[in-house]
Amino acid sequence: MFHITESLTGKEETLIVGLFRKTQPLQGTMAELDDRLEGHVTALLKDGDISADSGKVTKLFPLGKTSLKRVYIAGLGKEKEWGFERAKEVFATLVKRLLSDKKTMAVIDLDSFTSDDFSKIEAAHAFAEALELASYKIKDYKHKSNEPEKAVEELTFLSKEDPAEIKAALFVGTAHGRGTNTARTLVNMPSNVLTASELAEHAGKLAERYGFGLEILEKENMQKLGMGAMLAVNKGSSEPPKMIVLTYKGDESGSETIGLVGKGITFDTGGYSIKTKSGIVGMKTDMGGAAAVLGAMEIIGETKPEKNVVAVIPSTDNVISAEAFRPDDVIISMSGKTIEVLNTDAEGRLVLADAMTYAKHHGATHLIDIATLTGGVVVALGNDMTGATTNDAGLYRQVEAASAECNEPIWQLPITEKDTKRVKSSKMADLSNSPGREGHAIMAAAFLKEFAEETPWVHLDIAGTATTARESVLGPTGGTGVMARTLAVFVENFE
Ligand code: BES
Ligand code: MN
Ligand code: ZN
Repeated sequence: MFHITESLTGKEETLIVGLFRKTQPLQGTMAELDDRLEGHVTALLKDGDISADSGKVTKLFPLGKTSLKRVYIAGLGKEKEWGFERAKEVFATLVKRLLSDKKTMAVIDLDSFTSDDFSKIEAAHAFAEALELASYKIKDYKHKSNEPEKAVEELTFLSKEDPAEIKAALFVGTAHGRGTNTARTLVNMPSNVLTASELAEHAGKLAERYGFGLEILEKENMQKLGMGAMLAVNKGSSEPPKMIVLTYKGDESGSETIGLVGKGITFDTGGYSIKTKSGIVGMKTDMGGAAAVLGAMEIIGETKPEKNVVAVIPSTDNVISAEAFRPDDVIISMSGKTIEVLNTDAEGRLVLADAMTYAKHHGATHLIDIATLTGGVVVALGNDMTGATTNDAGLYRQVEAASAECNEPIWQLPITEKDTKRVKSSKMADLSNSPGREGHAIMAAAFLKEFAEETPWVHLDIAGTATTARESVLGPTGGTGVMARTLAVFVENFE
């Protein structure tokens, strides 16, 4: 619960104040506190017992000199470097500290967390988002699961700003945090739990909660529609495939619809082009694209932008049986384009191809596809940068702007005429799903481009960014929920 108040009532026990480096003399609440404590704060600062370095937190006990029982002083570093990302890290550090100190209530002196370039509105957004992200815990299956940790329950923001604006910013920050956490949870779920059917269930719940249109295509529907690429990937499986469609209409009179297409491979063995013993571990996360789209839809359901969205998630596992599709198979996609399968491990582009075609059937005028698509993008860009390709510079700029706003950076890879020639080099079919390992992140993108056709399209390859091996104050290892926020912000700002 968030509250906003103009001044302290004297009943508060825990106060949180931010302090930039080299703030002389002390200002606002810090100055008041220093007065009450007869210059003690200044003295502690001088002795280095209170640090204003970014991420440092000092706990101060006023011992009856004020009605407060404790004050957390958060170091903010240099004022010039202060901004949204720094703020989220500092706030996450504070949340973690409150959790470990078992303090469920606190008052935040919002003013002290602002600078000339960073408003109270932005600070409120950052705080709410950080609260959700820092409180996130992986849902594990241990018998003795970690003690039900106390949550930070009551936060009061001290501010003279219009409370409605602060409230709105807190609301958006919370939605962004929660949508991201939903994506994280989906990515972290094992594939025996999160089957395509379970993923469809999750989408069904979202539809119910937010009034989205819901359509789940079953295998028979896919057969009627001629989704030969999607069906080929599912052929070896005993789990039914699902093509999950959510529609959101925030602009009834508008003529544009954004298609968000997310790869939902619940487990990728590679099929007959089987992965290695170590390469297969972690392939439960191969639905990271679907998770991002569903996380974004959750944010969209909360923030209700005046835009139209159709989300399409092709979901199945990629496994082996006597029925499974094989290298050398030729399949017919829904678009009519034929595909020679040279590698059953290049399955993502197959399911995405039919999903993109289907998104267009649902009226998508612009397409964003997102997928844990290639190991190649990890080699090229590492784990901090999402690889992106496009057929439309204007649309790309919009996605890039949203990604920058959310600090989920993307980096563009090219698709040249020669790349397109390579994906069209099959002797047997219109396209080859795997023309070789050279530049294969680009090959995957060039393949998908053939299914975007004339529709403006941006492709996001999150194979390197959907999961992380680095824990931080903003989240544990495992699913990152990357791009849930970027997609939602892109939709919000789309023009
Ligand atoms: N799901 C994988 C890509 C992947 C790799 C995701 C590592 C996350 C971490 C994808 O389906 C795949 O197997 N791609 C192949 C493509 C190749 C066969 C052309 C790859 O990257 O090796
Ligand atoms: Mn694969
Ligand atoms: Zn895959």
